[in-house]
This record gives sequence, structure tokens and C-alpha cells, in this order.
Amino acid sequence: MEKMELSMGFMICVLLLLCSSANAQKGASPPTFSPTPAPAPAPDFVNLTDLLTVAGPFHTFLNYLQSTKVIETFQNQANNTDEGITIFVPKDDAFKSIKNPSLSNLTQVQLKQLCLFHALPHYYSLADFKNLSQLSPVNTYAGGDYSLNFTDVSGTVHVDSGWTRTKVSSSVHSTDPVALYQVDKVLLPEAIFGTDIPPMPAPAPAPDVAPSADAPTEASDGGSPPNSSPAKSSSQRIMNLGVWSQLILAVSGWVVLFL
Ligand SMILES: *[C@@H]1O[C@H](CO)[C@@H](O)[C@H](O)[C@H]1NC(C)=O
Ligand SMILES: *[C@@H]1O[C@H](CO)[C@@H](O)[C@H](O)[C@H]1NC(C)=O
Ligand SMILES: *[C@@H]1O[C@H](CO)[C@@H](O)[C@H](O)[C@H]1NC(C)=O
Ligand SMILES: *[C@@H]1O[C@H](CO)[C@@H](O)[C@H](O)[C@H]1NC(C)=O
Ligand SMILES: *[C@@H]1O[C@H](CO)[C@@H](O)[C@H](O)[C@H]1NC(C)=O
Repeated sequence: MEKMELSMGFMICVLLLLCSSANAQKGASPPTFSPTPAPAPAPDFVNLTDLLTVAGPFHTFLNYLQSTKVIETFQNQANNTDEGITIFVPKDDAFKSIKNPSLSNLTQVQLKQLCLFHALPHYYSLADFKNLSQLSPVNTYAGGDYSLNFTDVSGTVHVDSGWTRTKVSSSVHSTDPVALYQVDKVLLPEAIFGTDIPPMPAPAPAPDVAPSADAPTEASDGGSPPNSSPAKSSSQRIMNLGVWSQLILAVSGWVVLFL
């Protein structure tokens, strides 16, 4: 008899649970089942000038593209090829911060090459750059020696031109056949500025380069926090174990009571 009542009670509980979850689903369902709006006709033409005018600001880069007429080359590639195009666009700030090799003395032909250097003659989604990292150096639209190296650092695309090490900081537009990715710096090619690259300003002394006298203090400074945290986590683990064993005891007690 007791067992019957118990199972009846259990059944009721299960039914109640099922009903409530069904209701919850009903409450949530209307948005998912609402008719999806008819897909807008996909524009088969991406206006690069328009994109670069609206986003950014990319005015400096756009001005270079227009003065060298490279914008027409890019637009033609976007319009008329299956390959598509990938363009790396530096913001106006990036042009302002160029100091050492200046763009001011470049010839019109070099400026044109510089512009072409910022594009790949193929559409790449950000995910494709994982594979491109293995293919470095990758030829740019400028051809010849104008190549870029890519590395994927946990999902962020890093670009290396020798003179410039930067990363893709956002995706302005990425729909086959046109990808526009914002980069933090202007990409300066070795093919124009040579390979006599001044050493990068060292940001912070890397641990493996630091003089040995500094190493022990750094190691001991860095060493103490990790020592304390494992202790904390192990005590937490012990507490968790305690909670679990109490739960198991309680449950087994109930089972014993009802058998
Ligand atoms: C592209 O966009 C620019 C700027 O908005 C505009 O001046 C130009 O007429 C557009 N070109 C075409 C072919 O629609
Ligand atoms: C690209 O396509 C648009 C729309 O068809 C056209 O107006 C524009 O002239 C084309 N531009 C180039 C460079 O092919
Ligand atoms: C650019 O040319 C000017 C004069 O023609 C010169 O004084 C200047 O140093 C040059 N700048 C660079 C970065 O080569
Ligand atoms: C990327 O490379 C992997 C193997 O390394 C391959 O299976 C995959 O098809 C490649 N993807 C593209 C888009 O090329
Ligand atoms: C690009 O990668 C190639 C091959 O790994 C290497 O030889 C070259 O020096 C790299 N170029 C730059 C600019 O880092």
C-alpha cells in the first residue's frame, strides 16, 4: 500500500513537471514559429566606395585608392570575378601614426603598389585564415615580392609584412565575394621600404631575455599567488566532497526508509 501511494505521488509529480515544462515551451514558442520574413533580394553589387565612406573613418585609405585608381581595380574584382577580394583597411589614425618610413616621398607607382598590397585576390572569411597561416607567405594583389604572413592566434588574425605587425581588429564586411577587414596599422611592404627594418621597440622585458639577476625575484613574485590558490581550491574541493557525501547519505536514508 505504502509503495502504491509512493508511486502514485511520484507519477503526479512527474505529470506536474511535464505539464509545467510544456507550458514553459508553449510560452517560449511563438517567436520561433512566427513566419520568417521573406529574404530580401541579395544585392549582387557591393559598392566599395560606399562601404569605405560609411564605416571607419577610412577616408585617408579611400583617398589613396581613388588617387591611384586602385578603387576601380578592386571594384572590378568584386563585381566580375568568382574569386572575389579581401581588403585590409587601416583607419585614418593608422595613417597619422606612421612616422619612420614616411609615405610622403613615395612615387605614384609605389603608392599604387602600397594600395594593392592591402588586398588579396580572393575572398577569405576570417575562419579561412587558419589555413592561410600554414601557407605564409601569401601573395597580395600587388604580386611579386609583395607578400604577407598570417598567423591565427586563438581566433585573432595577425598580419606581418616585415615592417608592420598588426592584427585584424574587426570585420567591416564579410560576405562572399567581398571581405573588408579593419587592421590597426598601415601595411608597409619590404618590396618598397627594403628589408633594413629597425628593431621593434621592446615593449616589456620578456622573461627569457631578462638578465638572470632579475629572474629570481620575478619568479618568486610570480610564484606566491599560484601557491595560495591551489590551497584554496583544494579546500573547496574538500567542502564539495563533504556536501556530496551528505547528499548521498540523505538519499540513501530516504531509500532505506521507503523500502
Ligand atoms: C557607390 O557609392 C558612392 C558613394 O556612396 C556613390 O557616389 C557611387 O555613385 C556609387 N556607385 C555606384 C555604381 O552605385
Ligand atoms: C560594378 O557594378 C556596378 C553595378 O552593376 C556598376 O555600376 C559599376 O560600374 C561596376 N564597377 C566596375 C568597376 O565594374
Ligand atoms: C622626403 O624628401 C625630402 C626632400 O625631398 C627629404 O628632406 C626627406 O628626408 C625625405 N623623407 C624621407 C622619409 O625619406
Ligand atoms: C583547411 O585545412 C584543412 C586541413 O588542414 C582542410 O581539411 C580544410 O578543408 C581547409 N579549409 C579550407 C577552407 O581550405
Ligand atoms: C613569412 O614567412 C616566411 C616562411 O615562414 C618567412 O621566410 C618570411 O621571413 C616571413 N616574412 C615575414 C615578413 O615575416
